[in-house]
Amino acid sequence: MLIAPSILSADFGYLADEVKAICDSGCDLVHVDVMDGHFVPNLTIGPVVVSAVAKVATKPLDIHLMVENNSFFVDLFAPMKPEYISFHIEEEKHPHRLIQKIRSLGIKPAIVLNPHTSPESIEFLLEDLDMVLLMSVNPGFGGQKFIPSVVEKAKRLKSLIEKRNPNCLIEVDGGVNSDNVSLLKEVGVDIVVAGSFVFGHADGYSKAIASLK
Ligand code: DX5
Ligand code: ZN
Repeated sequence: MLIAPSILSADFGYLADEVKAICDSGCDLVHVDVMDGHFVPNLTIGPVVVSAVAKVATKPLDIHLMVENNSFFVDLFAPMKPEYISFHIEEEKHPHRLIQKIRSLGIKPAIVLNPHTSPESIEFLLEDLDMVLLMSVNPGFGGQKFIPSVVEKAKRLKSLIEKRNPNCLIEVDGGVNSDNVSLLKEVGVDIVVAGSFVFGHADGYSKAIASLK
């Protein structure tokens, strides 16, 4: 299982140190939650802060857009050369076009599904995607409770992926901890995002990441 700690739960007063610490603690990606106060009822960070994160991160960035006007935000974050940019299907009228744009910028495109969105809705986009991110909470905040129906959804998505594009990865985001991670592994999830579990772990970041793995 690959682990992508969400820096949303980091101490922003010491953000550079926090990013260095998770990169030195065995994580695989650094998950960056970008919220615009419109698509979700929260506001986080923009390109000024994310470029500072990119400078100190020794692991690739995984940028999760929770915004209106995705294409504008793709242009803002492309210069930071993230590994992935993921955007919500619920907020995009032309997902196929945006996928091609992200790929043309040398970034792996990914689509995010909210808890109510079915995997069949993106079946005919799978061959163009590197990853699908399934939300296991309502987007907007760290520290929420895991919604268990994501397990069945991941299973259904996995069978669509096997048919359409076996190289496409599945990532799950929200409320992931050492109790539910094995359920996700069993149904074929490749990457988990974990915010409060990693940053709030009493025994430190390395132990938290190791326990998820
Ligand atoms: C929620 C974000 C998540 C969140 C995860 O909108 O997309 O990445 O920070 O935090 P936890 O692991 O605490 O649910
Ligand atoms: Zn996220």
